[in-house]
Amino acid sequence: MRHLIDPMDLSVEDIDRLLDRADDISNYPQKYQEVCKYKKLATLFFEPSTRTRLSFEAAMLELGGSVLGFSSADSSSAAKGESIADTARTVACYADIIAMRHPKEGAPYVASQFVDIPIINAGDGGHNHPTQTLTDLLTIRREKGRLDNFTIGFCGDLKFGRTVHSLIKALSRYENINYVMISPEELQIPEYLKKDVFERKGISFREVERMEEVMPELDIIYMTRVQRERFFNEADYVRLKDSYILDLDKLKNAKEDLSILHPLPRVNEISVKVDSDPRACYFRQALNGKHVRMALIMDLLGVSADEY
Ligand code: CP
Repeated sequence: MRHLIDPMDLSVEDIDRLLDRADDISNYPQKYQEVCKYKKLATLFFEPSTRTRLSFEAAMLELGGSVLGFSSADSSSAAKGESIADTARTVACYADIIAMRHPKEGAPYVASQFVDIPIINAGDGGHNHPTQTLTDLLTIRREKGRLDNFTIGFCGDLKFGRTVHSLIKALSRYENINYVMISPEELQIPEYLKKDVFERKGISFREVERMEEVMPELDIIYMTRVQRERFFNEADYVRLKDSYILDLDKLKNAKEDLSILHPLPRVNEISVKVDSDPRACYFRQALNGKHVRMALIMDLLGVSADEY
């Protein structure tokens, strides 16, 4: 693995190795505090972010490395018309590894064609978000103790939700997972996922509009935000934005060991009253993101804790 652009760049063995390393980092952080000394991570964020950018930066700092970068297209020379290729080539002169978020699908892939340092896709439009997928897989493994044999409901914006698309692709390699897609008709998962993932692999899935009717059977519910920035018109966003609000009342019929995941940010699709329910995993999930990004940076840079 040289770059991480798509979750399918990761084999099941890669995932196992990264999640095992993330667990070790979390248990023995002192072992890792100098492994990236003198290495630099550039975070090139052409789209807003809190968790992904800051967890990448915290990850590199906790590995003993340094960080540089920008947090909006406006503060980079993209605002003057510079291409992705030229930006990537330039930053590769200053850094050892790049994490890039971009509103255009495929932008991190384009960057990876022009540089000989690792590029990590930190989210490209409505397409993929492979490091969120690693975060989600680590969370599921930590909460459930396994990555197979469960029923997962994906709820909200399944059409534009890159975290949903990436996680479905990654989970399709694991056994005996039941998929329930909970969304309004306009926000159902894209046809390419139905054909290329579910149909091709012979995986069945259900599509429903009401969360209440499936809640009792779910082991995991993966909530998502309806994303204003992906809609072409405001009226459609306003009509759909409050389609699902998970509150304590809806959880009355849920399993006692349900795991509630959300990649965050949340707007109002999970009531804040749910936050103190032990089944709410989303802030633990945000912490997991730092551990697994530390493991990924080490892997892509080819550094090991054994040398220190
Ligand atoms: N989950 C996630 O990608 O969050 P940010 O947009 O805050 O990075």
